[in-house]
Amino acid sequence: MNAAVPATDARPAEGRFDSVRDYIAALDARGRVLRIPEMDQDRYEVTAFAYRLIDRFGIEHAPAFMVDRIRIGGAWREGPLLANPYGRWPDEAVLFGVPDVTDDYQQMYHAVIRALEQRLDGAGNWRRIPPVEVDARQAPCKEVVLRGDDVDIEKFAWLQNNPADAGRYINITSVFTVDAQIGRNVGTYRCQVRDRTRISVNPEPGQDGWRILTAMKKRGDKVAKVAIAVGADPFTFCASSTKMARFGEDELEFAGGLRGSPLPVVRCETCDILVPAHAEMIIEGEVPLDEFLDEGPYGEMYGYLGPMKPNNFFMNIKCITHRRQPWILNSFTGLTCDMPRGPQTASNFFFYRRLIPDLTGLIAPRGANGVIVISIDKKLPGAGMAAGQYVAANVGLNKVVIVVDKDVNILNPTEVLHCLGARWQPSASLIIPQTQMMMPDPSRPRAMLSSKIIIDATRQWPQEGGPEKWAPLNRELLRKGAPEAFPLVDGRWDEYLKDWRG
Ligand SMILES: Cc1cc2nc3c(=O)[nH]c(=O)nc-3n(C[C@H](O)[C@H](O)[C@H](O)COP(=O)(O)O)c2cc1C
Repeated sequence: MNAAVPATDARPAEGRFDSVRDYIAALDARGRVLRIPEMDQDRYEVTAFAYRLIDRFGIEHAPAFMVDRIRIGGAWREGPLLANPYGRWPDEAVLFGVPDVTDDYQQMYHAVIRALEQRLDGAGNWRRIPPVEVDARQAPCKEVVLRGDDVDIEKFAWLQNNPADAGRYINITSVFTVDAQIGRNVGTYRCQVRDRTRISVNPEPGQDGWRILTAMKKRGDKVAKVAIAVGADPFTFCASSTKMARFGEDELEFAGGLRGSPLPVVRCETCDILVPAHAEMIIEGEVPLDEFLDEGPYGEMYGYLGPMKPNNFFMNIKCITHRRQPWILNSFTGLTCDMPRGPQTASNFFFYRRLIPDLTGLIAPRGANGVIVISIDKKLPGAGMAAGQYVAANVGLNKVVIVVDKDVNILNPTEVLHCLGARWQPSASLIIPQTQMMMPDPSRPRAMLSSKIIIDATRQWPQEGGPEKWAPLNRELLRKGAPEAFPLVDGRWDEYLKDWRG
Protein backbone atom coordinates (compact mmCIF):
# COMPACT_ATOMS: atom_id res chain seq x y z
CA MET A 1 0.00 0.00 0.00
CA ASN A 2 2.91 2.35 0.58
CA ALA A 3 4.21 4.05 -2.54
CA ALA A 4 6.59 6.95 -2.95
CA VAL A 5 5.04 10.39 -2.59
CA PRO A 6 6.03 12.56 -5.55
CA ALA A 7 7.74 15.81 -4.62
CA THR A 8 7.38 18.45 -7.28
CA ASP A 9 9.23 21.29 -5.59
CA ALA A 10 12.89 20.46 -5.13
CA ARG A 11 13.63 21.73 -1.61
CA PRO A 12 15.80 20.47 1.20
CA ALA A 13 14.14 17.67 3.17
CA GLU A 14 14.19 19.53 6.48
CA GLY A 15 13.66 22.99 7.83
CA ARG A 16 12.35 25.02 4.91
CA PHE A 17 9.40 23.91 2.86
CA ASP A 18 7.88 25.94 0.05
CA SER A 19 4.83 23.73 -0.24
CA VAL A 20 2.80 21.07 1.50
CA ARG A 21 4.25 18.65 -1.10
CA ASP A 22 7.80 19.31 0.08
CA TYR A 23 6.81 18.72 3.66
CA ILE A 24 4.95 15.48 2.90
CA ALA A 25 7.93 14.29 0.81
CA ALA A 26 10.15 14.81 3.87
CA LEU A 27 7.76 12.77 6.04
CA ASP A 28 7.62 10.10 3.36
CA ALA A 29 11.41 9.90 3.36
CA ARG A 30 11.04 8.83 7.02
CA GLY A 31 8.34 6.27 6.09
CA ARG A 32 5.62 8.33 7.75
CA VAL A 33 3.06 8.62 4.93
CA LEU A 34 0.58 5.86 4.15
CA ARG A 35 -0.63 5.79 0.54
CA ILE A 36 -3.81 4.04 -0.58
CA PRO A 37 -4.79 3.72 -4.27
CA GLU A 38 -8.54 4.22 -3.95
CA MET A 39 -11.42 4.45 -1.48
CA ASP A 40 -15.18 4.71 -1.75
CA GLN A 41 -16.49 7.72 0.18
CA ASP A 42 -20.02 6.96 -1.01
CA ARG A 43 -19.70 4.24 1.66
CA TYR A 44 -17.80 6.59 4.03
CA GLU A 45 -14.71 4.43 3.65
CA VAL A 46 -12.19 7.27 4.10
CA THR A 47 -13.89 8.50 7.27
CA ALA A 48 -14.10 5.03 8.82
CA PHE A 49 -10.46 4.47 7.87
CA ALA A 50 -9.43 7.70 9.64
CA TYR A 51 -11.21 6.53 12.82
CA ARG A 52 -9.61 3.09 12.68
CA LEU A 53 -6.15 4.52 11.97
CA ILE A 54 -6.33 6.56 15.13
CA ASP A 55 -8.01 3.79 17.16
CA ARG A 56 -5.20 1.40 16.25
CA PHE A 57 -2.09 3.61 16.13
CA GLY A 58 -3.12 6.18 18.76
CA ILE A 59 -3.52 9.87 18.15
CA GLU A 60 0.15 10.74 18.73
CA HIS A 61 1.40 8.14 16.25
CA ALA A 62 -1.15 7.62 13.42
CA PRO A 63 0.62 8.65 10.20
CA ALA A 64 -0.47 11.08 7.51
CA PHE A 65 -2.31 9.28 4.71
CA MET A 66 -3.07 9.90 1.07
CA VAL A 67 -5.75 8.41 -1.15
CA ASP A 68 -5.16 8.64 -4.90
CA ARG A 69 -8.76 8.23 -6.14
CA ILE A 70 -12.00 8.64 -4.26
CA ARG A 71 -15.55 7.76 -5.26
CA ILE A 72 -17.88 10.65 -4.45
CA GLY A 73 -21.47 10.96 -5.68
CA GLY A 74 -21.08 7.91 -7.91
CA ALA A 75 -18.03 9.30 -9.78
CA TRP A 76 -14.37 8.46 -9.24
CA ARG A 77 -12.48 11.70 -8.59
CA GLU A 78 -8.75 12.21 -8.81
CA GLY A 79 -6.85 13.13 -5.66
CA PRO A 80 -4.60 12.70 -4.11
CA LEU A 81 -6.51 13.47 -0.97
CA LEU A 82 -4.24 14.17 2.02
CA ALA A 83 -5.40 13.73 5.62
CA ASN A 84 -3.85 13.78 9.09
CA PRO A 85 -0.91 15.87 7.85
CA TYR A 86 0.30 17.73 10.98
CA GLY A 87 0.62 17.70 14.72
CA ARG A 88 2.71 14.62 15.61
CA TRP A 89 5.82 15.80 17.43
CA PRO A 90 8.35 13.88 15.26
CA ASP A 91 6.71 15.38 12.15
CA GLU A 92 6.83 18.84 13.69
CA ALA A 93 10.51 18.23 14.39
CA VAL A 94 10.94 17.68 10.64
CA LEU A 95 8.86 20.77 9.86
CA PHE A 96 10.76 23.08 12.18
CA GLY A 97 14.20 21.79 11.29
CA VAL A 98 15.12 19.95 14.52
CA PRO A 99 18.33 17.97 13.90
CA ASP A 100 18.41 14.22 14.64
CA VAL A 101 14.68 13.50 14.40
CA THR A 102 13.58 10.27 16.12
CA ASP A 103 10.18 8.57 16.49
CA ASP A 104 10.16 9.20 20.25
CA TYR A 105 7.28 11.68 20.50
CA GLN A 106 8.13 12.78 24.03
CA GLN A 107 11.74 13.51 23.15
CA MET A 108 10.60 15.32 19.98
CA TYR A 109 8.04 17.41 21.92
CA HIS A 110 10.87 18.79 24.06
CA ALA A 111 13.14 19.27 21.03
CA VAL A 112 10.46 21.16 19.06
CA ILE A 113 9.46 23.42 21.94
CA ARG A 114 13.12 24.15 22.78
CA ALA A 115 13.92 24.95 19.14
CA LEU A 116 10.89 27.20 18.74
CA GLU A 117 11.38 28.99 22.07
CA GLN A 118 14.83 30.01 20.89
CA ARG A 119 13.18 31.79 17.97
CA LEU A 120 11.07 34.04 20.25
CA ASP A 121 12.58 37.39 21.14
CA GLY A 122 12.86 38.61 24.76
CA ALA A 123 9.27 39.87 24.68
CA GLY A 124 7.90 36.59 23.30
CA ASN A 125 7.46 37.88 19.75
CA TRP A 126 7.93 35.76 16.66
CA ARG A 127 10.25 36.94 13.94
CA ARG A 128 8.31 38.57 11.10
CA ILE A 129 9.38 38.72 7.46
CA PRO A 130 7.07 40.36 4.90
CA PRO A 131 6.15 38.26 1.84
CA VAL A 132 7.58 38.89 -1.62
CA GLU A 133 5.44 39.09 -4.75
CA VAL A 134 6.43 36.81 -7.61
CA ASP A 135 5.34 36.62 -11.22
CA ALA A 136 2.40 34.33 -12.09
CA ARG A 137 4.81 32.21 -14.17
CA GLN A 138 6.70 31.34 -10.98
CA ALA A 139 3.51 30.39 -9.14
CA PRO A 140 2.54 26.69 -9.28
CA CYS A 141 -0.93 27.63 -7.99
CA LYS A 142 -1.57 29.21 -11.43
CA GLU A 143 -0.80 26.16 -13.55
CA VAL A 144 -4.52 25.91 -14.40
CA VAL A 145 -6.84 28.96 -14.45
CA LEU A 146 -10.63 28.41 -14.53
CA ARG A 147 -13.02 31.29 -15.15
CA GLY A 148 -16.61 31.76 -16.31
CA ASP A 149 -18.40 28.52 -17.16
CA ASP A 150 -15.27 26.51 -16.34
CA VAL A 151 -15.68 27.34 -12.66
CA ASP A 152 -17.01 24.21 -10.98
CA ILE A 153 -15.91 23.72 -7.38
CA GLU A 154 -18.00 20.54 -7.09
CA LYS A 155 -15.80 18.56 -9.45
CA PHE A 156 -12.92 18.26 -6.94
CA ALA A 157 -12.65 15.52 -4.32
CA TRP A 158 -14.08 17.41 -1.32
CA LEU A 159 -15.56 14.98 1.19
CA GLN A 160 -18.74 14.76 3.12
CA ASN A 161 -17.17 13.37 6.30
CA ASN A 162 -20.30 12.05 7.95
CA PRO A 163 -23.82 11.19 6.74
CA ALA A 164 -25.10 13.69 9.35
CA ASP A 165 -23.09 16.62 7.93
CA ALA A 166 -24.94 19.09 5.72
CA GLY A 167 -22.78 18.23 2.71
CA ARG A 168 -19.26 18.24 1.32
CA TYR A 169 -16.75 20.62 2.89
CA ILE A 170 -13.49 22.35 2.02
CA ASN A 171 -12.15 22.39 5.56
CA ILE A 172 -8.36 22.85 5.45
CA THR A 173 -8.29 26.39 4.12
CA SER A 174 -6.47 29.68 4.51
CA VAL A 175 -9.07 32.40 3.96
CA PHE A 176 -7.63 35.79 2.89
CA THR A 177 -9.55 38.97 3.65
CA VAL A 178 -8.03 42.41 3.14
CA ASP A 179 -9.47 45.57 4.63
CA ALA A 180 -8.13 49.02 3.72
CA GLN A 181 -8.13 50.07 7.40
CA ILE A 182 -7.44 46.86 9.31
CA GLY A 183 -5.08 45.14 6.88
CA ARG A 184 -4.74 41.55 5.74
CA ASN A 185 -6.11 38.59 7.70
CA VAL A 186 -5.57 34.91 7.00
CA GLY A 187 -7.71 32.43 8.94
CA THR A 188 -8.68 28.77 8.60
CA TYR A 189 -12.45 28.43 8.32
CA ARG A 190 -14.48 25.55 6.92
CA CYS A 191 -16.42 26.13 3.71
CA GLN A 192 -19.50 24.08 2.81
CA VAL A 193 -19.78 23.34 -0.91
CA ARG A 194 -23.19 24.63 -2.05
CA ASP A 195 -23.17 24.32 -5.85
CA ARG A 196 -20.77 24.81 -8.77
CA THR A 197 -20.02 28.45 -7.93
CA ARG A 198 -20.96 28.96 -4.27
CA ILE A 199 -19.41 27.92 -0.97
CA SER A 200 -20.18 28.95 2.62
CA VAL A 201 -17.35 30.66 4.53
CA ASN A 202 -17.52 30.06 8.26
CA PRO A 203 -15.47 32.39 10.50
CA GLU A 204 -17.15 32.04 13.90
CA PRO A 205 -18.35 35.28 15.52
CA GLY A 206 -15.37 36.95 17.21
CA GLN A 207 -12.77 35.46 14.86
CA ASP A 208 -10.57 38.00 13.09
CA GLY A 209 -12.01 37.14 9.65
CA TRP A 210 -15.52 37.66 11.04
CA ARG A 211 -14.48 40.99 12.58
CA ILE A 212 -13.13 42.21 9.23
CA LEU A 213 -16.22 41.17 7.24
CA THR A 214 -18.47 42.71 9.91
CA ALA A 215 -16.45 45.97 9.92
CA MET A 216 -16.76 46.19 6.12
CA LYS A 217 -20.51 45.61 6.35
CA LYS A 218 -20.87 48.31 9.03
CA ARG A 219 -19.06 50.77 6.77
CA GLY A 220 -21.65 50.09 4.07
CA ASP A 221 -19.65 47.81 1.73
CA LYS A 222 -21.88 45.48 -0.28
CA VAL A 223 -19.33 42.75 -0.99
CA ALA A 224 -15.89 41.70 0.23
CA LYS A 225 -13.32 40.29 -2.16
CA VAL A 226 -11.98 37.10 -0.59
CA ALA A 227 -9.43 34.49 -1.70
CA ILE A 228 -9.11 31.01 -0.22
CA ALA A 229 -5.94 28.96 -0.43
CA VAL A 230 -6.29 25.18 -0.18
CA GLY A 231 -3.08 23.28 0.55
CA ALA A 232 -1.02 26.35 1.44
CA ASP A 233 2.58 25.73 2.51
CA PRO A 234 2.84 24.50 6.12
CA PHE A 235 4.03 27.84 7.55
CA THR A 236 1.18 29.87 6.06
CA PHE A 237 -1.23 27.19 7.23
CA CYS A 238 0.30 27.27 10.73
CA ALA A 239 -0.18 31.05 10.95
CA SER A 240 -3.71 30.87 9.52
CA SER A 241 -4.97 28.09 11.79
CA THR A 242 -3.54 29.41 15.09
CA LYS A 243 -3.55 32.66 17.04
CA MET A 244 0.11 33.47 16.36
CA ALA A 245 -0.97 36.80 14.82
CA ARG A 246 -3.21 39.13 16.81
CA PHE A 247 -6.02 41.12 15.22
CA GLY A 248 -4.54 43.54 12.68
CA GLU A 249 -1.23 41.67 12.42
CA ASP A 250 -0.35 40.01 9.14
CA GLU A 251 -0.21 36.19 9.26
CA LEU A 252 1.98 36.11 6.13
CA GLU A 253 4.75 37.95 8.00
CA PHE A 254 4.62 35.27 10.68
CA ALA A 255 4.75 32.58 7.97
CA GLY A 256 7.89 34.27 6.58
CA GLY A 257 9.41 34.36 10.06
CA LEU A 258 8.76 30.65 10.58
CA ARG A 259 10.28 29.69 7.22
CA GLY A 260 13.17 32.14 7.68
CA SER A 261 12.67 33.93 4.35
CA PRO A 262 9.96 35.95 2.57
CA LEU A 263 6.98 33.87 1.53
CA PRO A 264 6.50 33.99 -2.27
CA VAL A 265 3.03 35.35 -3.01
CA VAL A 266 1.20 36.00 -6.27
CA ARG A 267 -1.62 38.36 -7.21
CA CYS A 268 -5.11 36.90 -7.68
CA GLU A 269 -6.68 36.92 -11.14
CA THR A 270 -9.79 38.89 -10.16
CA CYS A 271 -8.55 41.15 -7.34
CA ASP A 272 -5.37 42.47 -5.73
CA ILE A 273 -5.21 39.93 -2.91
CA LEU A 274 -1.78 38.28 -2.69
CA VAL A 275 -1.86 34.53 -2.04
CA PRO A 276 0.84 31.88 -1.46
CA ALA A 277 2.34 31.01 -4.84
CA HIS A 278 2.98 27.38 -3.89
CA ALA A 279 -0.54 26.55 -2.70
CA GLU A 280 -2.42 23.69 -4.32
CA MET A 281 -5.47 25.78 -5.21
CA ILE A 282 -6.78 29.33 -4.91
CA ILE A 283 -10.53 30.02 -4.90
CA GLU A 284 -11.26 33.68 -5.67
CA GLY A 285 -14.61 35.34 -5.20
CA GLU A 286 -16.91 37.81 -3.53
CA VAL A 287 -18.65 37.47 -0.16
CA PRO A 288 -21.95 39.41 -0.13
CA LEU A 289 -22.31 41.42 3.07
CA ASP A 290 -26.09 41.75 3.05
CA GLU A 291 -27.05 38.24 1.95
CA PHE A 292 -26.47 35.01 3.88
CA LEU A 293 -27.00 31.24 3.76
CA ASP A 294 -27.68 28.75 6.53
CA GLU A 295 -24.70 26.49 7.17
CA GLY A 296 -24.29 23.03 8.69
CA PRO A 297 -25.02 20.93 10.69
CA TYR A 298 -21.41 19.76 10.86
CA GLY A 299 -19.47 17.30 13.05
CA GLU A 300 -17.45 19.73 15.20
CA MET A 301 -14.00 19.67 16.80
CA TYR A 302 -15.26 18.15 20.08
CA GLY A 303 -16.49 15.13 18.15
CA TYR A 304 -20.19 16.02 18.35
CA LEU A 305 -22.59 17.24 15.70
CA GLY A 306 -22.86 21.03 15.73
CA PRO A 307 -26.18 22.71 14.94
CA MET A 308 -27.21 24.33 11.67
CA LYS A 309 -25.97 27.92 11.78
CA PRO A 310 -28.37 30.46 10.34
CA ASN A 311 -27.24 33.46 8.28
CA ASN A 312 -23.65 32.54 7.54
CA PHE A 313 -21.32 34.23 5.09
CA PHE A 314 -20.93 32.64 1.66
CA MET A 315 -18.83 33.28 -1.43
CA ASN A 316 -19.75 33.61 -5.10
CA ILE A 317 -16.74 32.06 -6.81
CA LYS A 318 -15.32 34.10 -9.71
CA CYS A 319 -12.19 32.12 -10.53
CA ILE A 320 -10.29 28.99 -9.46
CA THR A 321 -6.58 28.58 -10.09
CA HIS A 322 -4.74 25.38 -9.21
CA ARG A 323 -1.72 23.18 -9.76
CA ARG A 324 -2.01 20.41 -12.28
CA GLN A 325 -3.58 17.53 -10.36
CA PRO A 326 -4.03 19.57 -7.18
CA TRP A 327 -3.79 17.89 -3.81
CA ILE A 328 -7.03 18.00 -1.86
CA LEU A 329 -6.65 18.28 1.91
CA ASN A 330 -9.32 17.10 4.31
CA SER A 331 -9.78 17.45 8.04
CA PHE A 332 -11.75 14.74 9.82
CA THR A 333 -12.71 17.37 12.33
CA GLY A 334 -12.17 16.44 15.95
CA LEU A 335 -10.26 13.32 14.94
CA THR A 336 -7.18 13.89 12.77
CA CYS A 337 -4.11 16.07 13.40
CA ASP A 338 -4.72 19.05 11.15
CA MET A 339 -2.44 21.86 12.26
CA PRO A 340 1.13 22.32 13.47
CA ARG A 341 0.90 22.96 17.20
CA GLY A 342 4.55 23.72 18.08
CA PRO A 343 4.51 27.52 17.69
CA GLN A 344 1.29 27.94 19.68
CA THR A 345 2.58 25.65 22.44
CA ALA A 346 5.92 27.50 22.58
CA SER A 347 4.11 30.87 22.74
CA ASN A 348 1.82 29.63 25.50
CA PHE A 349 4.80 28.36 27.44
CA PHE A 350 6.57 31.71 27.12
CA PHE A 351 3.46 33.65 28.08
CA TYR A 352 2.53 31.51 31.07
CA ARG A 353 6.10 31.36 32.38
CA ARG A 354 6.00 35.11 32.79
CA LEU A 355 2.98 34.69 35.06
CA ILE A 356 4.15 31.41 36.64
CA PRO A 357 7.96 31.54 36.97
CA ASP A 358 8.03 27.97 38.35
CA LEU A 359 6.18 26.47 35.35
CA THR A 360 8.06 23.38 34.10
CA GLY A 361 5.64 21.89 31.53
CA LEU A 362 2.40 22.52 29.67
CA ILE A 363 0.42 20.30 27.33
CA ALA A 364 -3.11 20.27 25.90
CA PRO A 365 -3.48 16.49 25.35
CA ARG A 366 -4.61 15.76 21.80
CA GLY A 367 -8.06 14.22 21.63
CA ALA A 368 -9.14 15.81 24.94
CA ASN A 369 -10.25 19.31 23.93
CA GLY A 370 -10.86 21.39 27.03
CA VAL A 371 -8.21 19.69 29.20
CA ILE A 372 -4.81 21.22 29.89
CA VAL A 373 -2.09 19.81 32.12
CA ILE A 374 0.71 21.91 33.58
CA SER A 375 3.58 21.03 35.90
CA ILE A 376 5.31 23.33 38.37
CA ASP A 377 8.36 23.31 40.57
CA LYS A 378 6.30 24.07 43.67
CA LYS A 379 8.12 26.34 46.10
CA LEU A 380 5.31 27.84 48.17
CA PRO A 381 2.00 26.64 49.58
CA GLY A 382 -0.87 27.67 47.31
CA ALA A 383 1.37 27.77 44.24
CA GLY A 384 -0.51 24.95 42.46
CA MET A 385 -3.87 26.68 42.76
CA ALA A 386 -2.39 30.07 41.83
CA ALA A 387 -0.79 28.62 38.69
CA GLY A 388 -4.05 26.88 37.74
CA GLN A 389 -5.97 30.13 38.02
CA TYR A 390 -3.70 31.89 35.54
CA VAL A 391 -4.19 29.10 33.01
CA ALA A 392 -7.95 28.82 33.54
CA ALA A 393 -8.29 32.56 32.88
CA ASN A 394 -7.54 31.93 29.19
CA VAL A 395 -10.79 32.07 27.24
CA GLY A 396 -9.60 29.39 24.82
CA LEU A 397 -9.75 25.70 25.51
CA ASN A 398 -8.84 25.62 29.18
CA LYS A 399 -11.92 24.16 30.89
CA VAL A 400 -10.24 21.49 33.05
CA VAL A 401 -6.85 22.64 34.33
CA ILE A 402 -4.76 19.95 36.03
CA VAL A 403 -1.68 21.09 37.96
CA VAL A 404 0.96 18.52 38.93
CA ASP A 405 4.44 18.56 40.45
CA LYS A 406 7.48 18.71 38.19
CA ASP A 407 8.39 15.04 38.77
CA VAL A 408 5.29 13.97 36.79
CA ASN A 409 5.77 13.34 33.06
CA ILE A 410 2.81 15.30 31.71
CA LEU A 411 3.21 13.77 28.24
CA ASN A 412 2.30 10.40 29.74
CA PRO A 413 -1.49 10.36 30.40
CA THR A 414 -1.08 7.36 32.72
CA GLU A 415 1.23 9.34 35.01
CA VAL A 416 -1.25 12.22 35.09
CA LEU A 417 -4.16 9.89 35.90
CA HIS A 418 -2.01 8.14 38.52
CA CYS A 419 -1.47 11.51 40.12
CA LEU A 420 -5.21 12.17 40.26
CA GLY A 421 -5.69 8.83 41.94
CA ALA A 422 -2.79 9.01 44.39
CA ARG A 423 -1.88 12.67 45.03
CA TRP A 424 -5.03 14.66 44.58
CA GLN A 425 -7.81 15.26 47.08
CA PRO A 426 -10.97 16.54 45.36
CA SER A 427 -11.17 19.21 48.05
CA ALA A 428 -8.02 20.75 46.46
CA SER A 429 -10.11 22.05 43.53
CA LEU A 430 -11.71 25.28 42.55
CA ILE A 431 -14.86 25.41 40.45
CA ILE A 432 -15.55 28.62 38.56
CA PRO A 433 -19.33 28.45 38.09
CA GLN A 434 -19.55 30.42 34.86
CA THR A 435 -17.09 32.27 32.67
CA GLN A 436 -16.31 33.15 29.08
CA MET A 437 -15.54 30.28 26.66
CA MET A 438 -15.53 30.49 22.87
CA MET A 439 -15.32 26.80 22.03
CA PRO A 440 -18.22 24.58 20.82
CA ASP A 441 -18.07 22.24 23.83
CA PRO A 442 -21.32 20.22 23.64
CA SER A 443 -21.64 20.22 27.45
CA ARG A 444 -21.73 24.01 27.81
CA PRO A 445 -25.06 25.38 29.01
CA ARG A 446 -25.10 28.39 26.68
CA ALA A 447 -22.96 29.59 23.76
CA MET A 448 -19.83 31.51 24.83
CA LEU A 449 -20.17 30.40 28.49
CA SER A 450 -18.74 27.53 30.52
CA SER A 451 -17.88 26.55 34.05
CA LYS A 452 -14.26 25.54 34.72
CA ILE A 453 -12.34 23.51 37.27
CA ILE A 454 -8.81 23.82 38.55
CA ILE A 455 -7.51 20.55 39.93
CA ASP A 456 -4.49 21.10 42.15
CA ALA A 457 -2.90 17.65 42.02
CA THR A 458 0.44 18.84 43.36
CA ARG A 459 1.46 17.21 46.65
CA GLN A 460 -0.44 19.25 49.19
CA TRP A 461 1.75 20.68 51.95
CA PRO A 462 0.70 20.41 55.62
CA GLN A 463 -0.37 24.07 55.66
CA GLU A 464 -2.59 23.30 52.63
CA GLY A 465 -4.25 20.43 54.49
CA GLY A 466 -1.94 17.71 53.10
CA PRO A 467 -0.21 14.96 55.13
CA GLU A 468 2.63 15.83 57.52
CA LYS A 469 4.97 13.69 55.41
CA TRP A 470 4.42 12.24 51.92
CA ALA A 471 5.36 8.58 51.56
CA PRO A 472 8.21 8.05 49.07
CA LEU A 473 7.48 6.55 45.62
CA ASN A 474 8.41 2.88 45.25
CA ARG A 475 10.17 3.55 41.94
CA GLU A 476 12.35 6.24 43.58
CA LEU A 477 13.20 3.94 46.48
CA LEU A 478 14.39 1.33 43.96
CA ARG A 479 16.42 3.92 42.06
CA LYS A 480 18.10 5.14 45.25
CA GLY A 481 18.52 1.77 46.96
CA ALA A 482 19.79 -0.12 43.89
CA PRO A 483 21.26 2.50 41.55
CA GLU A 484 22.62 -0.18 39.23
CA ALA A 485 19.25 -1.89 38.60
CA PHE A 486 17.79 0.28 35.83
CA PRO A 487 21.11 0.67 33.92
CA LEU A 488 21.53 -3.12 34.10
CA VAL A 489 18.09 -3.80 32.61
CA ASP A 490 18.35 -1.04 30.00
CA GLY A 491 21.70 -2.46 28.87
CA ARG A 492 20.29 -5.98 28.48
CA TRP A 493 16.91 -4.97 27.03
CA ASP A 494 17.49 -6.18 23.46
CA GLU A 495 18.82 -9.48 24.80
CA TYR A 496 15.65 -10.09 26.87
CA LEU A 497 13.43 -9.43 23.85
CA LYS A 498 15.40 -11.17 21.11
CA ASP A 499 12.95 -14.11 20.81
CA TRP A 500 9.83 -12.07 21.56
CA ARG A 501 7.28 -11.97 18.74
CA GLY A 502 4.57 -9.89 20.43
C1 LIG B 1 -8.82 22.35 10.20
C2 LIG B 1 -9.33 23.56 10.95
C3 LIG B 1 -10.60 24.06 10.70
C4 LIG B 1 -11.06 25.19 11.37
N1 LIG B 1 -12.33 25.65 11.09
C5 LIG B 1 -12.77 26.80 11.66
C6 LIG B 1 -14.04 27.35 11.30
O1 LIG B 1 -14.80 26.80 10.51
N2 LIG B 1 -14.40 28.52 11.88
C7 LIG B 1 -13.60 29.19 12.77
O2 LIG B 1 -13.97 30.26 13.22
N3 LIG B 1 -12.40 28.67 13.16
C8 LIG B 1 -11.96 27.51 12.61
N4 LIG B 1 -10.73 27.00 12.95
C9 LIG B 1 -9.91 27.70 13.96
C10 LIG B 1 -9.28 28.96 13.37
O3 LIG B 1 -8.63 28.67 12.17
C11 LIG B 1 -8.28 29.63 14.31
O4 LIG B 1 -8.95 30.03 15.48
C12 LIG B 1 -7.61 30.82 13.66
O5 LIG B 1 -6.79 31.46 14.60
C13 LIG B 1 -8.60 31.81 13.12
O6 LIG B 1 -7.95 32.86 12.46
P1 LIG B 1 -8.21 34.37 12.87
O7 LIG B 1 -7.73 34.49 14.29
O8 LIG B 1 -7.38 35.15 11.91
O9 LIG B 1 -9.68 34.61 12.72
C14 LIG B 1 -10.24 25.85 12.31
C15 LIG B 1 -8.96 25.37 12.56
C16 LIG B 1 -8.50 24.24 11.89
C17 LIG B 1 -7.11 23.73 12.19
